[in-house]
Formats: sequence, structure tokens, C-alpha cells
Amino acid sequence: MNPHNTSRRHVLGAGLALGATALSAGAAAATTAPSAGAAGTLRIGDMKIARLGYGAMRITGEGVWGEPTDARTCRAVLRRALDLGVNFIDTANSYGPHVSERLIAEALHPYPKGLVIATKGGFTRAGPDRWSADCRPEALRAACEGSLARLKVERIDLYQIHIPYEDSTGELAGLQKEGKLRHIGISNVRAEHLDKARALVQVVSVQNRYNVADRGSDAILATCERERIAFIPWAPLGKSGRDSTPETGARANLEAVARERGISPQKAQLVWLLSRSNVLVPIPGTSKVAHLEDNVSAAALRFTRAEMQRIG
Ligand SMILES: NC(=O)c1ccc[n+]([C@@H]2O[C@H](COP(=O)([O-])OP(=O)(O)OC[C@H]3O[C@@H](n4cnc5c(N)ncnc54)[C@H](OP(=O)(O)O)[C@@H]3O)[C@@H](O)[C@H]2O)c1
Repeated sequence: MNPHNTSRRHVLGAGLALGATALSAGAAAATTAPSAGAAGTLRIGDMKIARLGYGAMRITGEGVWGEPTDARTCRAVLRRALDLGVNFIDTANSYGPHVSERLIAEALHPYPKGLVIATKGGFTRAGPDRWSADCRPEALRAACEGSLARLKVERIDLYQIHIPYEDSTGELAGLQKEGKLRHIGISNVRAEHLDKARALVQVVSVQNRYNVADRGSDAILATCERERIAFIPWAPLGKSGRDSTPETGARANLEAVARERGISPQKAQLVWLLSRSNVLVPIPGTSKVAHLEDNVSAAALRFTRAEMQRIG
């Protein structure tokens, strides 16, 4: 079902039942709803996205394994994301595995124009919370073909590879030439990986763990800023994985600023990322509509220079 059809039906229904007054009340409500577009936009290759996206790893079972406990709500979260102007969704064949991609297609296909779905390959799964890398060219090709089928697309907008070895990146270049991949991104990389991958293909995005308490990718973020490559920080709320830098108190400082601003700590973490660099595209993950709305409402805020200095 097309989410835009849903909201349009909703507005038209309200108008028919309650007349013009209800319609203008609806319009006023719509203007106060959070909008991902308030974060500004970023070009990824020839695509333009709102700089606040949605991470679809959380619409799976415990340990990113199997079906979610409430698939109906997960589909509602995906539709609500689009209603709120999110037009960048991050997923991977390994989330479930296959569950996240399948739910995205169930909820959103046929996709509205301008929606960018980024997926990934290179990890296999043996059970809850168990991940192992498999970036062999033949494995990547099979993963890519599977994602094309599950997402019901002829070409993947952004295909990200976990750990870009030379032969695996070469395989992606081949898939791109065949028209199956629009753009290529890399994930979980150090600066030298980025250099090597860029020698083989045009890399439009880097996806590394990065948040207020994990600055391990500051150097690669600087490169992305210089080269205008999108940096997609995973675990923007610090939930999955482990911090790669020592504790500095930045998270506690940020929570103090959040209290003063009267916003949730989660929202504050997203505001920090949006304020930190204009190539950052946070992709907070959630399985709840209320959390999604809180996260998207971060798009309209920025911390002042003084607040950023205080957070550290
Ligand atoms: N490239 C990689 O190797 C890699 C690795 C991990 C993740 N990722 C991507 O990055 C995305 C984000 O990472 P993540 O999902 O692991 O971590 P995250 O975004 O830092 O945190 C998600 C967690 O925070 C909770 N949450 C979200 N919004 C909230 C709010 N407003 N208030 C309170 N709790 C909130 C969610 O629970 P509820 O469901 O209860 O809201 C969920 O448990 C993933 O979805 C995935 O697309 C990529």
C-alpha cells in the first residue's frame, strides 16, 4: 500500500465528514507534525534525501533474528516514516535475515518516487546476535540478487558492502555495470578501506558506528566532509555495538543539555549528530511509532555552538 494514499484518504475522509473547518484544523495539525525534511537535504550520487533517515534493523525478532513480535506495528512504523517525510531507509539482507527487506516491500511497495532504500550485503547469520562476514564475490552476487527480489526492485538505489575487499568491490562494480546497483557505499571501514574502494568504484557513502560517545570515525568523517561523501552513522543512539573511544562524559553532558531543552536524550543525540556535520545522515532504528515521531522531531533542531562545546 502506498503510504501517501493512506494519508490522502485520511485527510479527504475527515473533510467529507466534518466540512471545511475540520479540513483547516487538519492542515494546521499537519504543519506542526515533525518532518524529516526540516533536517535539510543531502545529495547521495544523483539522489537527494532528507538528512534524517530510518534504520530498519529493529523490525525483526530478538537479536535481529526472525520475525518481530508485532509485524503490523512494524509496517505501520515504515508507513508513518514516509508520512513524516523520511525518504531514506537503511536495511540489509542479514536483518532477520531477509525479514526487514520483506517487511519494507510489504508495507511500502509500490514505492513512491524519491524514496531511497539502501541495503547491504556481506554478512551471514547463524542465529540471534550471531554475525559472520562473507564478502566472497559469488556470495555478494547471490545476496544482491536476493535483495532485488525481496525489495521488488530492478535496481538497488544504494548497495553497501561490509568490508570492501578488492575482489568483492570489483564484483559490485560488475553488478553496477549490469544495471542492478545505482550507487555503492561501504560500511565498517577505516580510512585505508575507503581509499582502496574509491580506486575501484565511486563510493557515495560510508556507514560506520558513530555517536556522541563513539568518535572512532572522526578522521573518516573529516574525509567524507572534504569529499562530499555521505556518512551514515549506525547506532546513532548508541544502542548496538560498543564504543570504540574512551568514556569522556560527553553522553552525560548531552543528557544535561537535553534536560534543559526539555527533549528526550534520544532526540538530543540526533540533534547532536545533525549539528555535528552536514554530511551526517542519522538512521535511528525503532519498532515504535511514538519513538519514530520523537526521532523525526529532532530534524528541526540544532544545538548552538556553546551547547556543542559544552557537550564536548
Ligand atoms: N552497518 C552496520 O554494521 C550496522 C550495524 C548496526 C545497525 N546498523 C543500522 O543502523 C540503524 C540504527 O542502529 P540501531 O538500530 O542498532 O541503534 P540505535 O538507532 O542507536 O538505537 C535503536 C534502539 O533505540 C530505541 N529507540 C529508538 N528511538 C527511541 C526513542 N525516541 N526513545 C527511546 N528509545 C528509542 C529502539 O527501541 P524501540 O524499538 O523500542 O524504539 C532501539 O532499541 C539500524 O537500524 C541499522 O539500519 C548498521
